[in-house]
Amino acid sequence: MIKKVGVVGCGQMGSGIVQVTAAAGFPVIANEATEELLERGISGIEKRLAKAIEKGKMDEAAKDKLLGNIKTAVDLEELADCDIVIEAITEDINAKKEIFKDLDKICKAETIFASNTSSIPIGDLAAITGRRDQFLGLHFFNPVPVMKLVEVVRSLDTSEASFNAAKEFAEKVGKVTVAAKDTPGFIVNVLLVPYLLDAVRQFENGLASRDDIDNAMKLGCGHPMGPLTLTDFIGLDTILFIADIFFDEFKNDHYAAPPLLRRMVAAGYLGKKSGRGFYDYRQ
Ligand code: CAA
Repeated sequence: MIKKVGVVGCGQMGSGIVQVTAAAGFPVIANEATEELLERGISGIEKRLAKAIEKGKMDEAAKDKLLGNIKTAVDLEELADCDIVIEAITEDINAKKEIFKDLDKICKAETIFASNTSSIPIGDLAAITGRRDQFLGLHFFNPVPVMKLVEVVRSLDTSEASFNAAKEFAEKVGKVTVAAKDTPGFIVNVLLVPYLLDAVRQFENGLASRDDIDNAMKLGCGHPMGPLTLTDFIGLDTILFIADIFFDEFKNDHYAAPPLLRRMVAAGYLGKKSGRGFYDYRQ
């Protein structure tokens, strides 16, 4: 049974995972490469909790209890006795492999390893470790505290016991789980990313204005965000990265990144995080 949790990476996704895990009452160790990155991640959590208090959705005692469940560590060694370690660093396969190689030496034999990757094959990461059967994907969605879903991804070697323990953990942190195979994009991204690429392509081809494309899908289909806003929200670089992986794997035009997306990424228009994407966030 999972009692103690480690999270490697305390950026947008990692800090969200730390927050929901602590909120569910689990002791959690947040790991980052530097103290500065850790402070940034934790202060993001504190800001979100302060907002919840402002709105009357949380009281000070609950906030203190949640924060009390979080410990921080720049040293991976401190994750040694965690029952599950969830990696949520950037989508760099070599960096992820390095982390798991180290964790495999550091963590107790029973520790389950999970990656929050959206695009790297789980089997490729598992193969680096001596515990392929205790390795799986736990794919959360952005923003983690709000989005209800976690894809639990089984590689060819994931054991039933590890899968069930991770699924039970995700449900305890308040998420609904779906079981996905270790195929590119799992369930959500293999459906979502081609839709976002099509929206960029149609905008590039002059089908309609940016605002009309977004409003059409928001108001016509009841989506919370239009596709160009959502591309900005996820990050144009992330969408391009995933599209290139899909294209490489499937060799199908359906997954080809439109030239405009590539040009925008090259120009540093990465969406909300860089201040500019299809929309301007700099004011
Ligand atoms: N972190 C935590 N909470 C947040 C948040 C964030 N970044 N952004 C918004 N929220 C919370 C707000 O505090 C608010 O909470 P309450 O209802 O408790 O007050 C709630 O979400 C609604 O927020 P807002 O009223 O400010 O704004 P909104 O109604 O426009 O909702 C949204 C914002 C939840 C982001 C909504 O627009 C939405 O659901 N968008 C779609 C997001 C989506 O599709 N995510 C999946 C991306 S794909 C992915 O993540 C996978 C991948 O691998 C690429």
